[in-house]
Amino acid sequence: MKTIEEGRSWLKAEEWSMEIETDQRNGVPHPPLQKPVPEGARLTELIPPGRISLGDVPLREAIARRRSRRRFSQEPLTLEELSFLLWATQGVKEVVRDGLATFRTVPSAGARHPFETYLSVHRVEGVSPGLYRYLPLDHRLALLREEADLPERIARAALGQGFVGEAAVVFVWEALPYRTEWRYSVRSHKVIAIDVGHICQNLYLACEAIGAGTCAVGAYSQAATDALLSVDGEEEFTVYLAPVGKLP
Ligand SMILES: Cc1cc2nc3c(=O)[nH]c(=O)nc-3n(C[C@H](O)[C@H](O)[C@H](O)COP(=O)(O)O)c2cc1C
Repeated sequence: MKTIEEGRSWLKAEEWSMEIETDQRNGVPHPPLQKPVPEGARLTELIPPGRISLGDVPLREAIARRRSRRRFSQEPLTLEELSFLLWATQGVKEVVRDGLATFRTVPSAGARHPFETYLSVHRVEGVSPGLYRYLPLDHRLALLREEADLPERIARAALGQGFVGEAAVVFVWEALPYRTEWRYSVRSHKVIAIDVGHICQNLYLACEAIGAGTCAVGAYSQAATDALLSVDGEEEFTVYLAPVGKLP
């Protein structure tokens, strides 16, 4: 367990004017922008951003309505709604500098976008329940595994917060810190935490624009969530969850 002083110090900026060694400076090739598609994984095409015709609520109204929602109806999300939420949170608008970076619907320090989005799908039309990973460069979903008891397991991993299991879909953001460390080394970790907040805020607002709701979840078991997603807990680990459902 770290001390209060260590925690506070992590929140402060490193001295940016000081030159530090980074893999980028040392000519190490940049890490991939997206984890590779698992071999043989079943892929689901999402609705392309240009064909999405929902979410036209005035921004002022979405901001005014936003609050943390912990009660969801049994109504499933449509594939178009899920496509909209994925685009709003991690959608790629442009790949730049010969594949070195992406510009997306959210900001990220150095445009490193050090996250992968996993979905525990419980009720989405046209998507069978299971664990998926969003492929932002392709705007598709890759099925990782079908599993009947995902809602119970993810609620347990979120320390028994029952509303997490009652959602139509749970967004789980995994950090891949090396994507940012490659460029910023020890300065990375504060900005990675800030980055993920932008993603979740877009999810809040996008949900409000489609009659759905979400609640940021920072209280979860690191070990249980990482195990559920089959990530190694070192190069890739859970930083934030957000259950989403239609409002009752
Ligand atoms: C980083 C972070 C972590 C949070 N974790 C949880 C959580 O684990 N469980 C929960 O019920 N709410 C969680 N919340 C939601 C807060 O409780 C909520 O934002 C706060 O009570 C203010 O309410 P509002 O979002 O409706 O304005 C979290 C919010 C943030 C920003």
